[in-house]
Amino acid sequence: MSASPAERAEQLRETIRAHDRRYYQDDAPTISDAEYDRLFRELVQLEEAHPELQAPDSPTQRVGAPASDAFTPVNFAVPMLSLGNAFDANEAREFDRRLCDVLGVSQCDYVAEPKFDGAAVSLLYENGKFTRGATRGDGRTGEDITANLRTVQDLPLALKAEAPARIEIRGEVVMPKSAFERMNNDLAKRGEKRFVNPRNAAAGSLRQIDPKITAKRPLSFMAYAVGAGEEQLSVRTQRELLDQLKAWGFQVSENAVLAQGIDACLAHYDQLMDARAEMEVEIDGVVYKLNALAAREEAGHLARTPRWAIAHKFPAEEVETVLQDVEYQVGRTGAVTPVARLQPVFVGGATVSNATLHNADELERKDIHIGDAVIVRRAGDVIPEVVRAIPEKRPNGAQKPEIPSECPVCGAHVARPEGEVVARCTNGLACPAQRHAALAHFVSRRAMDIDGLGDKMLTQLLARDLIHTPADIYQLKAETLRGLERMGAKSVDNLLKAIEASKDTTLARFIFALGIPDVGETTAQALAEHFGDIQSLREAALADDDTRDISPATKRFPQLTAVADVGPVVASEICDFFKEPHNQQVVEELLNAGIHWPEPKQPQGEALAGLRFVITGTLPDVSRDQAAEIIKGQGGQVSSSVSKNTDYLLAGENAGSKLEKARSLGVIVIEWDQLQEMLQAPERP
Ligand code: IVH
Repeated sequence: MSASPAERAEQLRETIRAHDRRYYQDDAPTISDAEYDRLFRELVQLEEAHPELQAPDSPTQRVGAPASDAFTPVNFAVPMLSLGNAFDANEAREFDRRLCDVLGVSQCDYVAEPKFDGAAVSLLYENGKFTRGATRGDGRTGEDITANLRTVQDLPLALKAEAPARIEIRGEVVMPKSAFERMNNDLAKRGEKRFVNPRNAAAGSLRQIDPKITAKRPLSFMAYAVGAGEEQLSVRTQRELLDQLKAWGFQVSENAVLAQGIDACLAHYDQLMDARAEMEVEIDGVVYKLNALAAREEAGHLARTPRWAIAHKFPAEEVETVLQDVEYQVGRTGAVTPVARLQPVFVGGATVSNATLHNADELERKDIHIGDAVIVRRAGDVIPEVVRAIPEKRPNGAQKPEIPSECPVCGAHVARPEGEVVARCTNGLACPAQRHAALAHFVSRRAMDIDGLGDKMLTQLLARDLIHTPADIYQLKAETLRGLERMGAKSVDNLLKAIEASKDTTLARFIFALGIPDVGETTAQALAEHFGDIQSLREAALADDDTRDISPATKRFPQLTAVADVGPVVASEICDFFKEPHNQQVVEELLNAGIHWPEPKQPQGEALAGLRFVITGTLPDVSRDQAAEIIKGQGGQVSSSVSKNTDYLLAGENAGSKLEKARSLGVIVIEWDQLQEMLQAPERP
């Protein structure tokens, strides 16, 4: 059964939000830009075709992701807009036609400049001195990363020519390809995690808490716009603006050209596409910007994108190579993943010799044989993938790869339950591959963050039988470590210190580190906020486990599914985890080893205790995040989607689909004023 437009729109919003979090907050995207763009466009089209489905909190209405609370927020007087995309020449022409119509002219003049694949930042100069730098955040509020930006080599700390007393420069922090490759090789040598692409490396480096780490990263800044203060400049065109930026001492693209009319833009696009591979800095398209600044005002902008500019994106780079073999990797949850061993090729800014084939269904669908000529794609960001085989070039007798029935690492039975795409080794943590992956996850940066316990170190410890479970890490002694390869007194000391330091963590990190299938960082955070301690989470899981088979299905896992974003699938995984005696023991041992986290913030009041809220629309005076804080502070819960478990929908102006859904489910809808009343008086509307 296909989803209704309303359901599909909601699905798309959820999916896009999840990808936004991975991209903007975790700097670790899991899909290619092209796939993301496809999802995004489907949503835009749906919302355009069904205006009643438009929601103010839809990802289509905002830029990027909210700022994290690790950095001080910075508000932009002039919002940092995003750009609309054109995926082919026709779409670029359409953009041009609309713009010419709006301006009532027969031809528009543009500056066509490379679209840098980095992290957008805002730099404030006061009296010629760099005083504050920020990430783009959600376009209205970014994060103050001044200390980190000061370490960026070619970012002038003082302007080299006269400037208005207060001027905001905008541009992109990028990591040149060669520097990126070098840094990644170093990281790999040290057993640390590599960055997927230069953009994530740049964004990740800028959001380091310690500027000393940023300083070691080879970053560059390319300027392309002015934010606040533009009206005080005498420049009248983008071309003049770029020259002015250069005069102030900024690096400006050598490949920005004046293009009279859209045909000239498209010609420059073709040129840059050819030159792209040789460029030092990764670019993912060409931006066409109306040259005349005054006319931009006239053209205006939509919620997140200007009408006077567009990004004409390059297609993901694809190349042909030979599939030499298919091997199988066993992951943290036992999933057996086919991996393509390729004749090495250079694609999307890096040499690729392995690519994922995802799962057995994919192998079948793509009809892949060993020895095939295959097309490989790397969109510059995600793990490379095999797009398709070229059957016309298939050598005689080429074999189809088959998912093994025994685990390639431990030999245990590999099961593929009816209707599931993933085959799994059934040996759990007794399988060395699963154990290694589970430990690597446990110590990783976003989990317990044990610096110095890289892949090589883990391999050694496992090979010598020194650790089996995460809890064993906390029992390691200096004498034992001294006996290992490349472990001098200093390294031993550092590692022990890092292990000790990791004990001071947060509940969310700890839950994430446990490696429960499907419990990513966001879910771990939601569980931590909801339960406040590990004991309550465990009890809820054990109690919920008894509801697994009851009818109706909607009553299953009541405690866990009360947590925002936890559905029955995730709830079932959490139950499975906590009822396993081995896992209970490991958790116990970890706590005994001294892992601890700050006490949860006590609610300041109880006025909303036990009530479940969803917030939608634009509220007077406060943002939705602030309102959520207020509700939580009074013991209430806030989730992201309306269900029949919702007690109240707090609706502001321009509320959309959530309001409709609340009404159809009979959920009480209140306004901001009514919430205020609930906070004052215990009576409830
Ligand atoms: S102009 C309103 N110029 O692309 C215009 N942006 O998808 C805003 N970007 O947030 C930006 N190269 O991070 C502009 N030459 C360029 C760019 C560029 C890369 C990025 C920037 C922006 C994003 C929009």
